[in-house]
Amino acid sequence: MHTKTAQKLDTTFKQEVYQGLTSYPKFLSSKYIYDKAGDKLFQDIMNMPEYYLTNTEFDILEKHKDELAALFSNDSKPFHLIEMGAGDGKKTKILLHHFTDQNLNFTFRPIDISQNALDSLEANLKEEIPALNTESLQGTYFETLRELNFSTDERKVILFLGSNIGNLLHEKAIAFLSQIQEYMQPDDLLFIGFDQKKNPQTILDAYNDEAGITANFNKNLLVRINRELKANFEVDSFIHWEVYDPESGTAKSYLVAKSPQKVHIKELGLEISFDAWETVHTEISQKYDAKTVHWLAEQSGLKVLEEFSDQKHYYKNYLFTKSA
Ligand code: TRP
Repeated sequence: MHTKTAQKLDTTFKQEVYQGLTSYPKFLSSKYIYDKAGDKLFQDIMNMPEYYLTNTEFDILEKHKDELAALFSNDSKPFHLIEMGAGDGKKTKILLHHFTDQNLNFTFRPIDISQNALDSLEANLKEEIPALNTESLQGTYFETLRELNFSTDERKVILFLGSNIGNLLHEKAIAFLSQIQEYMQPDDLLFIGFDQKKNPQTILDAYNDEAGITANFNKNLLVRINRELKANFEVDSFIHWEVYDPESGTAKSYLVAKSPQKVHIKELGLEISFDAWETVHTEISQKYDAKTVHWLAEQSGLKVLEEFSDQKHYYKNYLFTKSA
């Protein structure tokens, strides 16, 4: 049982941890895995042989960069290349290099909530692609897209890579895509990466590697709560568990308590109990097929213009416009 004291839940992190761990079944948002250690572990995940997603999307962009240059610039017209969640820009740089070499008339506009992340990306791009024109947008996706939609007549090409859309169950994905669609003009484009349904074993291996990197990554949530909220999770008494349902295409990550235990979270004034084998759900990684992507588009006021795939059909990037 938990006891709430007068402690103030003065950050979203505290509120969400409180809510997730006092619910049944328990859950925590995977977005909190990504602190400094979590970012590093995710880099390691992207470099594992089992984690096919990053390399596959990289190959798709490399293979189709000429076609994308032609589609995005539409007869050398100026455009804004907007990226939601640019990270370190590793994949986007393929396009940035190529478009700059081709002298396309465009501005790169990465969106991020963190000014810090934007500053380091800008500094890096200045060094690596001096001719590139970068103007970053600090804020949430929707705030910044709305503002941009009102302030320019030039085409917007919006990138959402890495199958980040897969963190949303369909209902939320539709709400998300509908919102973006509202901030698009008829000429604007939306380019999204969707990880595909495939041999279920390949998916399980990508989210549950032998070396245990993904396990450490998932458990970093508990490490972070221990440090930032003064808690005493015994991290090794939880296991990382992955399930994949080949019918729905939903992969889910859990932390599972190996034994009954109590955890005290000082900053929340909270004591929580775990039964043996009780779960904490942390992540959704949705996988898609053609029917589902077309259905999502239709539900969101979008239509598919083009699709690009790798040789093995592990991954697809779709190009959408507004449907009406
Ligand atoms: N959400 C990302 C993905 O679907 C990152 C990720 C990989 C992840 N492995 C994970 C998130 C395990 C939580 C747990 O690829």
